[in-house]
Amino acid sequence: MSNFKFYLFICCVILNFYYNEASRSGRRQTMADSEQQSKGGQEASKQSYKVLVTHPEVPKEALDLLSQVTEVIVCQSLPPNRSEILEKAKGVHALLWGSHEPLNDKVLEAAGPQLKAITTMSAGIDYIDVELLKKHKIPLGHTPVVLNAAVADLGMALMLAAARRLQEGRRKIETSTWENYHINWMWGQDIRNATVGFYGFGNIGQTVAKRLQGFDIAGILYTTRHPIAEDKEKQFNAKKVPFTELIEKSDIIFIAAPLTPETQGAFNATAFQKMKTTAVLVNIARGPIVNQKDLYVALKNNEIFAAGIDVVDQEPLPADDPLLGLPNIIITPHIGSATKRTRTDMAIVAADNILRGLAGEPMFSPAY
Ligand SMILES: *[C@@H]1O[C@H](CO)[C@@H](O)[C@H](O)[C@H]1NC(C)=O
Ligand SMILES: *[C@@H]1O[C@H](CO)[C@@H](O)[C@H](O)[C@H]1NC(C)=O
Ligand SMILES: *[C@@H]1O[C@H](CO)[C@@H](O)[C@H](O)[C@H]1NC(C)=O
Repeated sequence: MSNFKFYLFICCVILNFYYNEASRSGRRQTMADSEQQSKGGQEASKQSYKVLVTHPEVPKEALDLLSQVTEVIVCQSLPPNRSEILEKAKGVHALLWGSHEPLNDKVLEAAGPQLKAITTMSAGIDYIDVELLKKHKIPLGHTPVVLNAAVADLGMALMLAAARRLQEGRRKIETSTWENYHINWMWGQDIRNATVGFYGFGNIGQTVAKRLQGFDIAGILYTTRHPIAEDKEKQFNAKKVPFTELIEKSDIIFIAAPLTPETQGAFNATAFQKMKTTAVLVNIARGPIVNQKDLYVALKNNEIFAAGIDVVDQEPLPADDPLLGLPNIIITPHIGSATKRTRTDMAIVAADNILRGLAGEPMFSPAY
């Protein structure tokens, strides 16, 4: 089948999907024609393309979308088993890469030269050999944007929990050391009038900034590769500064940058020494942007006030990791996008990426 015809089918399928959503939520049924058309096209195109979904728990909404026009193969192992993925990848035309397994030359070799499209089900693409995909001209999709709100919400939770010592407070109760006869007991950091720094100020950073607007902060400093639009700077009272200025002047720092060779280890001992002793560090991006040993030392020696992190270097974090023994850190197990709605939206965007990729169209969320 020609790419163009396949693309037409996909348009129908996507329309059909939204039509189904609309009728489920009780709206009027106005796209009956497109539904009919897509049903007519299913059989022929199903034979054309095979899609491997590498994780058994990818939400059904995505599988439904894909299976209307492609043959969908779903890996069954949990946790994902690399040999199963490599075995089932043979001969497929697209990969919905549902876990954070490395996607490298081994995978491309296992699949074969007919591979036409790949998508992650994440915003970050640090576990993908992007250069290799570029070399083979295989389009790569990812799923940013739909997770902005959920990740930003968790960032707010970590900021407040770290600044106001929630984890430590809980321990005080558990150990019968609730000593509220002290006036200066369990003092935390104010959010009001704080200068908030963003290391990376893209989609997620700006969604956090939007949430901060109710907290009467003093202003925002940020470092990014490219300055953001002037009207956004105005809206958020944000100023682009060099890294050293960011860490020296910020009361609260959000790490919201992708993991790249440039960002890896940027928050090391040298950086912590330059930060305020009252500073609160929040990491909602990737663990290795922070040198974890240096973070331990900085928190232990009170070089910074506290940290709230959703990501660590080496996930899962072992239960005996020394960070867990510190009172001034709150750690969550990489749950930034973990809500039903967000993960479902991510899966739908991933499926959409695949369908457009197979049709030779630009993906909904291209990663390069
Ligand atoms: C992974 O899958 C392969 C092949 O599908 C199987 O032989 C192997 O036992 C599995 N390994 C684990 C740890 O489940
Ligand atoms: C707000 O913070 C600035 C420093 O960032 C300080 O100079 C100023 O006094 C603070 N204002 C209030 C009302 O606390
Ligand atoms: C921290 O990173 C900076 C920038 O890469 C580097 O110049 C500095 O030497 C590093 N400090 C330590 C203690 O590794």
